[in-house]
Amino acid sequence: MAERRGALIVYATTSGATAEVARLIADALRHPDRVTFDLRNLDVDATLLPPGQFELVVAGTPTYGKGDWHSAWQRHGGRVVPLLRSAARVMLFGLGDARGHAATFAGGLRMLHDFVVEAGVRPLGPPQPSPAGRVPDPVPVPPPAGLAIEYRRNRRAAPEAIREWLSACLGDDVALRAERPVI
Ligand SMILES: Cc1cc2nc3c(=O)[nH]c(=O)nc-3n(C[C@H](O)[C@H](O)[C@H](O)COP(=O)(O)O)c2cc1C
Repeated sequence: MAERRGALIVYATTSGATAEVARLIADALRHPDRVTFDLRNLDVDATLLPPGQFELVVAGTPTYGKGDWHSAWQRHGGRVVPLLRSAARVMLFGLGDARGHAATFAGGLRMLHDFVVEAGVRPLGPPQPSPAGRVPDPVPVPPPAGLAIEYRRNRRAAPEAIREWLSACLGDDVALRAERPVI
């Protein structure tokens, strides 16, 4: 197999918060080859996902409707599947609003999680509470593996929460050293 590139952070956004979180994740990963990609770019004819296969794919979505993932995942998720399957590691994040949408907080993350698992990929990582918010009580089902983040109300807490999540999932390997054995 061809050598894998570093990290792809693939996301969708409507009002830009998920793009900001994707950028924070890219900043926190200490690999020189890290790419962020907005799935809405695929709405433009002839646009392609970044080429190659990646050591790490981090996939993210905001939550819209009533606990839905972003519609661009609905439209283009199938094109991401080969990248998810060929990655050594996959991690997920989802944005939401725990106060305004308590009952469906970060529901998009669950949809993304189910999609990835259905594609035969097991995402890494312990479920994490959002930085300042909390998963509403009672939680109807266990939260999926991934970072549920309430970014708009907690921008300042986000970089630290992202660093903690990355080290919980990747250990000391946030630089994605090539010599580390594939999990
Ligand atoms: C119409 C609308 C519906 C939303 N529905 C939910 C929801 O069901 N659950 C939730 O946690 N957040 C919900 N949100 C909050 C968004 O997920 C949150 O603002 C997110 O940061 C937006 O990300 P973006 O800027 O990347 O588009 C909703 C926001 C809007 C405007």
